[in-house]
Amino acid sequence: MIIVNSISKLRSLRKELEGEVAFVPTMGALHEGHLSLMSEAKKHAQTLIVSIFVNPTQFGPNEDLDTYPRDTEGDSKKCESAGCDILFLPSVSEIYDDNAKTEVSVASLTTNLCGAKRPGHFNGVTTIVSKLFNIVQPDVAVFGKKDYQQLAVLRRMVKDLNFPIRIIGSPTVRESDGLAKSSRNLKLRSDYRKSAVALSQGLVKAHKAFESGERKGATLEQIVKDEVETAGLVPDYISCVDPDTLETYEGGEKALIAIAIFAGEVRLIDNIELHEELAI
Ligand code: PAF
Repeated sequence: MIIVNSISKLRSLRKELEGEVAFVPTMGALHEGHLSLMSEAKKHAQTLIVSIFVNPTQFGPNEDLDTYPRDTEGDSKKCESAGCDILFLPSVSEIYDDNAKTEVSVASLTTNLCGAKRPGHFNGVTTIVSKLFNIVQPDVAVFGKKDYQQLAVLRRMVKDLNFPIRIIGSPTVRESDGLAKSSRNLKLRSDYRKSAVALSQGLVKAHKAFESGERKGATLEQIVKDEVETAGLVPDYISCVDPDTLETYEGGEKALIAIAIFAGEVRLIDNIELHEELAI
């Protein structure tokens, strides 16, 4: 595995590559979820490029940029064992020019769910992912379905801006008790780690209700709310939406429940596609 810090070095290596290139952008603190993105990516291309960059522009002023877990050495080893060929580890100054004036922004899909709660977050994501796509020039890029809204926004962006890149959504990887793997799980106090299982349990209950014929979005949301509040978690939002438009679910055979909660200071997200087979 070659480790690269500069855009110019990455560009010159990229020029020499033959065959298709798959790309997995990450913010590090790698766990099995990221490794499953890498293994999915390797099915689609000859070369795997991974980036690790804790992107400051997608964190709000009161969010956890400073305390976001970082472990470059451990992460590099994990990338190498996962079969990564080139690891891109740029600094903030390598990526962002102090005088930059351009931002990439996707309308409407970014206004609800996490978009409503984290103003500016998705502009940070779409801007950094566009920049990374321009630097890496992959044929395929893989993102986790745990960040369902991010995946939907990036699919839209790729279509709207004609990036010649196939976007692949990869299933959420979970701990044995059902908690979705996340770099932020490392920050959970041990009592909150135990109660965080209520997220996936609530989603499973809603899934069962949907299977039994429940089609009222508010009722499905309430099932999840009861479960997480009983466990002492504080909902940021719990929304039943159309999985394609992310607009409020109005009945019908396809639905998604997306949820964000606070477990103490730590914000966790999860979601479930109610029309898909239960995978938790
Ligand atoms: O999902 C993430 O880790 C980040 O949002 C991403 C896509 C790497 C952009 O910084």
